[in-house]
Amino acid sequence: MSELPKSESPRDESRRKLLTTTAYSAAGIGAACAILPFIDSMNPSSDVQALASVEVDISNIRIGEEKKVMWRGKPIFIKHRTAEEIAAAQKVELAELRDPQTDSDRVKSGKEEWLITIGICTHLGCIPIMGQGEFNGWFCPCHGSQYDTSARIRKGPAPKNLEIPPYEFLSDTKIKIG
Ligand code: FES
Repeated sequence: MSELPKSESPRDESRRKLLTTTAYSAAGIGAACAILPFIDSMNPSSDVQALASVEVDISNIRIGEEKKVMWRGKPIFIKHRTAEEIAAAQKVELAELRDPQTDSDRVKSGKEEWLITIGICTHLGCIPIMGQGEFNGWFCPCHGSQYDTSARIRKGPAPKNLEIPPYEFLSDTKIKIG
């Protein structure tokens, strides 16, 4: 005949609870330690983080010229606009625009000579060419979209202006994109 277990004393019961709590805590810490390497491996590597932003020396871009750089796999146009190009962009009425934005919405105040855009046509993704088309801005050779000197869409199938990437001036001659 088996013996029935004796009822636990209050001291035994509190000892059992302590052991149970300790075991659960140890299991939790173990699980966290096992997961940490996976979480860490999901963070971008330093190489990838470096590509998240790119610094560009703009001191050698003459007035009227454009420099192309890559940022996150996309071409970026850095255009040093002439006074005429700025004036043409500023005098356009919003009502004339398919994707209404003033020129000042698209440049930094006090740095109106610099227009920085993602050089991908908003129709189907071709790369527009500077200084061509009726609006003296950019022309997309794929299906004929035309952008003005603020890179706003003016004619052709593209629905949107060329996009402006996030950027800042680190100095008068250096910008950081991204
Ligand atoms: S991709 Fe530029 S007009 Fe179609």
